Amino acid sequence: MVLVSGNKLLRKAKRGCYAVGAFNTNNLEITKAIIAAAVEANAPVFLQLSSGALKYGGFELAGLALAFARKVPVPVAVHLDHGPSIEVARECVGFGFSSVMIDGSALPFGKNVAVTKKVVALAHKKGVSVEAELGQLKGREDEVFSARHTYTDPSAAAKFVRLTGCDSLAVAIGTSHGAYKFRGSQKIDLRRLKEIGKLVDVPLVLHGASSVHGSLVAMASKYGAKISNAKGVPESQIIKAIKLGICKVNTDTDIRIAFMVAVRKVLSENRSVYDPREILSPATEAMKAVVMRRIRVLGSENMA
Ligand code: G3H
Ligand code: 13P
Ligand code: ZN
Repeated sequence: MVLVSGNKLLRKAKRGCYAVGAFNTNNLEITKAIIAAAVEANAPVFLQLSSGALKYGGFELAGLALAFARKVPVPVAVHLDHGPSIEVARECVGFGFSSVMIDGSALPFGKNVAVTKKVVALAHKKGVSVEAELGQLKGREDEVFSARHTYTDPSAAAKFVRLTGCDSLAVAIGTSHGAYKFRGSQKIDLRRLKEIGKLVDVPLVLHGASSVHGSLVAMASKYGAKISNAKGVPESQIIKAIKLGICKVNTDTDIRIAFMVAVRKVLSENRSVYDPREILSPATEAMKAVVMRRIRVLGSENMA
């Protein structure tokens, strides 16, 4: 259908008590997989690019995302994930993104407010929505590394949203980026999320939400990968989080694992293959299956 603002997708999701899947892309095959799943599931999606993805694929990769978004029959928001600065956010707004994240989560509260407010002002002028973050996830968020979680404080979150005018807020409630999210029990802080949900009225965003499916980890090991300690967020926890106000769920790692497993499989089972299309088509299918599964878990199937 059309490229739509993130706000439009998230407001509808909040009213309907489901969440929209936000999937990271870094190349043609990932973009195709996300779009194909969204079309087949008749679901809205965020197609998101980190600044790392923009460095890797250039703005040409963003152009590809925008071209797909404009031609498909479902609503798609093309989104900057973890925008590292006002300048990058401005560049993305200028290029035609319909949604941007400004990630000031590593900054002190006042500075995070100031930077976020500037991005809100420049983005809203063009009808582009803004996601901000308060609290820090453990691990790497693109160019920012945090050795520990700093959970989001509910009343600070309410104040932050009031002061900045951001459209959605990413919260830190115990998830982290990548494949190794938990040592012990795979639980997120749902009690804290409930408190945030009571005080904050904008849609909430869950980063670091990959589930790291056991079946894919087992397949990965079978084909020689070393990720056996990987642990993600159980789907049951994600469903509970959606009931408490999460409207956007970010997924990257699950797609990366599906890609890696499929490429390993095809190369180990067909030792004479050398056409990239033959190597990458099964990976595209595997990534599409992961996106489909996520869309169903989030309740966004047929919500286009
Ligand atoms: O938030 C992290 C996303 O998975 C993006 O990762 O910075 O390696 O592109 P990246
Ligand atoms: P995962 O690493 O859990 O897929 O999280 C991705 C993410 O939050 C992108 O912003
Ligand atoms: Zn993230």
